Amino acid sequence: ALDQKRQTWDLTDAAKSLPERTQESHKGDNGKGLLIAGAYNMPGAPAIASNACLHAGIGLLTTSVPASALSAVASHVLEATYFPLPETEDGQVADLQETPFPWDGMDGVAAGSGLGRTESTRVLTKRLLTETQTPLVLDADGLYFLPELEAEMANREHPLILTPHPGEMGRLTGLSPKEINAERFTVSREYARKFSCYLVLKGPNTIITTPEGRQYVSTSGSSALAKGGSGDALTGIVLAMMLQGPTLEEGVCNAVYAHGLAAEIAIREGISDYSFTASNLIDYLPKALAFIQ
Ligand code: APR
Ligand code: MG
Repeated sequence: ALDQKRQTWDLTDAAKSLPERTQESHKGDNGKGLLIAGAYNMPGAPAIASNACLHAGIGLLTTSVPASALSAVASHVLEATYFPLPETEDGQVADLQETPFPWDGMDGVAAGSGLGRTESTRVLTKRLLTETQTPLVLDADGLYFLPELEAEMANREHPLILTPHPGEMGRLTGLSPKEINAERFTVSREYARKFSCYLVLKGPNTIITTPEGRQYVSTSGSSALAKGGSGDALTGIVLAMMLQGPTLEEGVCNAVYAHGLAAEIAIREGISDYSFTASNLIDYLPKALAFIQ
C-alpha cells in the first residue's frame, strides 16, 4: 500500500478478487457486452478489442463495426455476433442519430477504438453518454469529443470508465503530456472526481482512479506493450472483466493487471519484446488468467 487512498494492485489483489466461474453458470451470467469500434481503414482495432474481450471472460459479445469492415473483422473474430454501422455510399459511417443500437439488452458497452474523429463519432459519443444504462467504457476516438460533452458526462447516472493514454488525458484536461506525467496521480484524481468517472491513465504503471478518488497502481506490465494495438486490447479486457465483478472497481483493476501480466508471461516464455504484438497479448491472456486463478 502506498497510502490510504493510493495502493498497488498486484497478483495477490487480483487472485483474491477474481470470482470463480461456478459450475452452473451460463453465458448470460458472464456478461453481455457491446463493442463499437473500427472504420473501413481500421479493421484491426475492433478485431483486437473483440478477441481480447472474448478471451477475458465475456459471456456474449456483439461487435459493431462499419458495414464495409465487417467481413474483415468477422474473419478474425469467430465468436462475436455483429451489428453493422450504417455507411454512406462513399464508405463513411453514416449519421448515427437514429441508429437503433442494441445497448438496451447489454450489461456493458465499450466504444472508441479506430472509430475516427468524425461528426458521426461525436453523435455516437453523445448518445452513448445519455442513452446507455450500463457501465460505458470510452477509449481512443471515443474520448476525442468529451471536452465538448462535459455537461452530458456530468449528468450521466451510470458508470463511465475512461482509458486515456497521457496524450489523450492532455486533451481531456487541457494540460500537456509533460504536465500530466509530472502529476499523474493528482491530475487523475481531480478529473475522476470532477466527472464522477473511473479513470485508467495508461502507461508504465497504469493508474486506476475511482469516482471517489481511490487510486490503484497496477504492478504488471512490460515495455513490449509500447506498440499500436495494445490499447485496443485493454479496451476489450476492461469490457469483459468489469462485468465479472465482484465490483466494477475490482474488475477494472483486474483488467489492467491481466493485460500487463499477459505481456510479462509472453516475454518470460521467450517472445522477443521487439516482436510482441497485441495478437501475442491475446494469445497469452489465457495463461495470465490461469496464473491469477
Ligand atoms: N510499459 C508498460 N506498459 C506500456 C508501455 C510501457 N513502456 N507502453 C505502453 N504500455 C501500455 C499502456 O499502459 C496501455 O495499456 O500499452 C497500452 C497502450 O495503449 P495506447 O497508448 O492506447 O496504444 P494504442 O491505442 O494501442 O496505439 C497507439 O494511440 O495515440 C494513438 O493514434 C495513436 O494509433 C496510435 C495509438
Ligand atoms: Mg489507444
